[in-house]
Amino acid sequence: MTNQQLSENYHRGKEVKVSVTDLTKKYDDLLVLNDISFNIYKGEFLCIVGPTGCGKTTFLNCLSRFIPTTRGDILVDGQPADPTHHDMAFVFQEVSTIPWLSVEDNIRFGLKVKRRPPDEVERRTEQMLELVGLKKFRSYFPRQLSASMEQRVVIARNFALNPDILLMDEPYGQLDLKLRYYLEDELIRIWQEIGCTVLFITHNIEEAVYLAQRVLVLGQKPATIKEEIIVDLPRPRNFADPAFVKIRDHVTDAIRWW
Ligand SMILES: Nc1ncnc2c1ncn2[C@@H]1O[C@H](COP(=O)(O)OP(=O)(O)OP(=O)(O)O)[C@@H](O)[C@H]1O
Ligand SMILES: [Mg+2]
Repeated sequence: MTNQQLSENYHRGKEVKVSVTDLTKKYDDLLVLNDISFNIYKGEFLCIVGPTGCGKTTFLNCLSRFIPTTRGDILVDGQPADPTHHDMAFVFQEVSTIPWLSVEDNIRFGLKVKRRPPDEVERRTEQMLELVGLKKFRSYFPRQLSASMEQRVVIARNFALNPDILLMDEPYGQLDLKLRYYLEDELIRIWQEIGCTVLFITHNIEEAVYLAQRVLVLGQKPATIKEEIIVDLPRPRNFADPAFVKIRDHVTDAIRWW
């Protein structure tokens, strides 16, 4: 099958969860995102890869409404994106724990904000402490943790919510390789289990091909979508599989950031 046919088959009959139309973002005179349009499908695992400084975090900030867009629309289920209304969870590039709460209270925090019943709060918190391997550190405060442990707290806080849309901005950049692989597999497991829609941003090509059903490649700023690559590989994926290497090399070629 050609890439074109693969792509056509992929898009056929899918339900749109997030639609981005003509999204443009300027910071004063600096044009960062230039007329970006794409859809994210319901239950899809989409990765966006792009060079440093091309506007990936800016895009997520537009989606989360932390910053205003210059032009264009972002709709979730056909309505303007609104994190207070839509069920979205964010794992930011910069670690965002709450300094005055312990590890376990940081994980409970999101569940409490969402007013989940107390027994669910406790059950989910225990599951997440186990998942990210922080049981022994449950009563520590963020300042007593390493950067990677702190990022694990943020990941646990977000996974705990079983969100409808999970937005992750280079979440594993701080972690060592072994932990990264482990959490990538966990992310896939959770995604398959709860069927959420995941948008995962990274500049790590291998990570994108390992995780995604579809990869969008952004170019240098002002960012536009240069290419879309469908990753039709079975899971669990294997970095050494020739089919994996072929797609990885294709993405690398599409990029040519240098
Ligand atoms: N608040 C801001 N005001 C002005 N310029 C900004 C602001 N935030 C980001 N920029 C600029 O916009 C461009 C894109 O930044 P952004 O953080 O979105 O990139 P990125 O793709 O996430 O990069 P990285 O891979 O390093 O995280 C950069 O040139 C940056 O300097
Ligand atoms: Mg960024």
